[in-house]
Amino acid sequence: MAEKPVVLVGRKLAPAVEARLERDYAPRLNPDDRLYDSDELIALAEGAMAILPCHTEHLSAAVIARLPESVRAIVNYSVGVDHVDLEAAKAKGLVVTNTPDVLSAATAEIALLLMLGAARRASEGDRLVRGGGWRDWSPSFMVGTQMTGKRLGIVGMGRVGQLVARRARAFEMEIHYHNRRPLAPEQAGHATYHASLEDLLPHCDFLSLHCPATPESRGLMNRARLSLLPPGAILVNTARGAVVDDEALIDAVESGHLAAVGLDVFNNEPDINPKYRELQNGFYLPHIGSATRETRIAMGNRALDNLDAIVRGEVPRDRVA
Ligand code: DGY
Repeated sequence: MAEKPVVLVGRKLAPAVEARLERDYAPRLNPDDRLYDSDELIALAEGAMAILPCHTEHLSAAVIARLPESVRAIVNYSVGVDHVDLEAAKAKGLVVTNTPDVLSAATAEIALLLMLGAARRASEGDRLVRGGGWRDWSPSFMVGTQMTGKRLGIVGMGRVGQLVARRARAFEMEIHYHNRRPLAPEQAGHATYHASLEDLLPHCDFLSLHCPATPESRGLMNRARLSLLPPGAILVNTARGAVVDDEALIDAVESGHLAAVGLDVFNNEPDINPKYRELQNGFYLPHIGSATRETRIAMGNRALDNLDAIVRGEVPRDRVA
C-alpha cells in the first residue's frame, strides 16, 4: 500500500477533523495548539506534501521561499487568505485553497451580535452588573440606539454580506450595499445598490464590513470615509482589522461622531491598538466569527476535501492560487 501523504497541521483541530486526517494522511498534528514561529513551521514542513494553516500562521513571501521542496499545497483552514502571500505561492508553484461558504452563517450571526451589542451598550451593561455599579433604573439610564427599522449598509455583498442582509430584514432594516457589481435581483432582494462606497456611507445608520483584506482594501474605512457616515452611526467589522484605519475609527468614536463600534477583528491581533480598550462604547469579541462547533468541523472537512482533490491530481474546489 502506498504511504500516506504527510500533512503539517498548523493548529489543534476538532477531534472529528483530526480523526479524518489520521485515517487518510500521516498528519503532523499540534496537540498543544502552539503557535509555531516561521522557523518551526518551515522545519516541521520537511517531507510534508501540504501545510494546513489557520490565519494565525503568516506565510509571507520570505517564509514561502524557504518552504521545503516537498510542499506542494497550502490548504487553509480559513476563508480569508490575507496571511498567505498568494503571488509568492504561485511563483513557487504551490496550490492554495480556502474554506468559503461553511462559515458564512456563523459569521453573519456574529455581525448581528456586534450590531446589537454595540447599539444596546451590552459591554457597558455587563460591566455594570458584574462590577456592582448597577444602583438604580431611570428613563435616562443606559439608553442606546434601536436597530429595528434602521438603514444597514453592507460593504461586500458576498456570502456573508447576503446572509447578514437576510437576518437584518427580521429587524425590519432597510438594506443598502456596495459591491464591485450589483447583485442579480433574486440575490439582492430589495437591497439598494450604491456604485461607490462614498455614495453608500451617508445612507448607513449601521455599517457592516464584509470585504476581504487585500492591498486595495487596506485602510478602506479611513478618516474621510468615516466622516461620510451620519452622526450617531454604528460600525461593525467581522471581516479583517486591516480594512479599518484604527486611529481614524477611534477618533470617530471618541468625538461622538459614531455612537458605538462593534469589532470581532483587529489590526495586529491579539496586540490590538490599546486605545480601543478605553472606548466605553466599544463592543468587542476576539475573532470568533466562525467559532461554533458545527462550523469548526465544516471548515476542517472543507479543507480536507480540497486536500483530497489535490492528492487525486484534481483542481480543488476552493483553489485561490
Ligand atoms: C476566516 O476563516 O477567515 C476566519 O477569519 C478565521 O480564520
